[in-house]
Amino acid sequence: MNRSINETQTGRNMSTIDLQAKIPNNVNLGENRQLQRALEHWQPAFLNWWDEMGPSDFKAKEVYLRTAIGVDAQGWASYGYTPMPDYRWGIFMADREENRKIGFGDHMGQDVWQEVPGEYRSTFRRLIVTQGDTEPASVEQQRMLGHTAPSLYDLRNLFQVNVEEGRHLWAMVYLLHKYFGRDGREEGEALLERRSGQQDNPRILQAFNEETPDWLSFFMFTYFTDRDGKFQLKSFAESAFDPLARTTRFMLTEEAHHMFVGETGVGRVIKRTLEVMKELDTDNPDTLRKAGVIDLPTIQRFMNFWFTSSLDLFGSEASSNAANYFSNGIKGRPDEAKFADHVEADTEMTIDVPDGKGGMKKETISTRNGMNEITRLEYVKDCNVGVTRWNMAIKRAGVDFELKLPSTRFRREVGVWSGVPTDLQGNPITQAEFDANKHEWLPSEEDVSFVKSLMHRVTEPGKMAAWIAPPDRGINANPVEYEYVKL
Ligand SMILES: [Fe+2]
Ligand SMILES: [Fe+2]
Repeated sequence: MNRSINETQTGRNMSTIDLQAKIPNNVNLGENRQLQRALEHWQPAFLNWWDEMGPSDFKAKEVYLRTAIGVDAQGWASYGYTPMPDYRWGIFMADREENRKIGFGDHMGQDVWQEVPGEYRSTFRRLIVTQGDTEPASVEQQRMLGHTAPSLYDLRNLFQVNVEEGRHLWAMVYLLHKYFGRDGREEGEALLERRSGQQDNPRILQAFNEETPDWLSFFMFTYFTDRDGKFQLKSFAESAFDPLARTTRFMLTEEAHHMFVGETGVGRVIKRTLEVMKELDTDNPDTLRKAGVIDLPTIQRFMNFWFTSSLDLFGSEASSNAANYFSNGIKGRPDEAKFADHVEADTEMTIDVPDGKGGMKKETISTRNGMNEITRLEYVKDCNVGVTRWNMAIKRAGVDFELKLPSTRFRREVGVWSGVPTDLQGNPITQAEFDANKHEWLPSEEDVSFVKSLMHRVTEPGKMAAWIAPPDRGINANPVEYEYVKL
């Protein structure tokens, strides 16, 4: 392991992780030689993938990274300089909860499962593979961003997110190897073979095949798309398959930082724009662009794009698959405990669907069929928390502008609204009307190339690119001027 990891900043009472082991873990890997050998065989393939598809360049550079050393909320990580290829990727699970019972669906109240029931095996395998696939995909999408980081602080955060997505891949591959035998091992290999955006062997979900070409997109991705990940993980954290629940619970601890990067990143872009708006006493987008900052309407258009791309990841509004996952205890709703009825045997809900005549109508479906929609709406609420904070900053600056999430019916490519043109409020419109407004609602090529034109690397500790404000504080109580990456 890397000697410079500072072990003094750790808390107490964490379940032990052996960082010296070839594969750091808290799952007693050493007691299962066959599994250990299989994972040790996968490890060099993972490192090759990282070498080929991880952050371009920077391999030998020391990065101030946090590494998981426990699963306890008080002190689970240590911080220190590590070249990324030496990061201690490992297998970590939240501690086992004694006598945990299934919290929803038809098996409600029974003991949770420590093995996968045969009848749900292929479903679990597919869900774990799909989740696992998003982890390396995002690393691939972000691999060029290091060259244009607006500061060393941001460069470090990018790499932190990247190594942790790599760790999440380990988490899913462990489950595949341990519980799915030979099929699982084959899936583990395939996870290293697909490539984001590649024609013949792309990543499974569309949002993970889009490019992340600039840092505004990166912040939007970590705010909106990583948050979709959070909600998927929250649903798995409820699962009756206990090893999946424990694995995803610990992933959520790491994931929180990714959304922090997104929320504060977008917030800092807005803050800098507001400063220049005040200096120049203008809200004219052209003037602001000439001054080198991103005007608020462009930020809104990027938000519209990334938010709606992420909405599709929740799947169809009415879905019998989603109903089966719930009935069978495979996936719960995020924070299942806060719902009043955990069985939803005969309950119903209404959704909005296109009426086929250019309008909209209500449709009643069973609550079980509506699980995707319920989760999507919880996600929207969570997205709005940050938007409200961004708007408060805009208001405090005395600027009359409000960022708004578009309707969940806008620009959908999955579900009942797929391919139905609507305005930002979700009212159905004609394709011609949509096309006429498209550039007001979504980033145009010109917007994208303007944002790209701002992307220049800043490498002096504490200095920021002109289009983004410094963060309020540094990482792990270090100052913003800290040398977060030694270039
Ligand atoms: Fe992840
Ligand atoms: Fe993430």
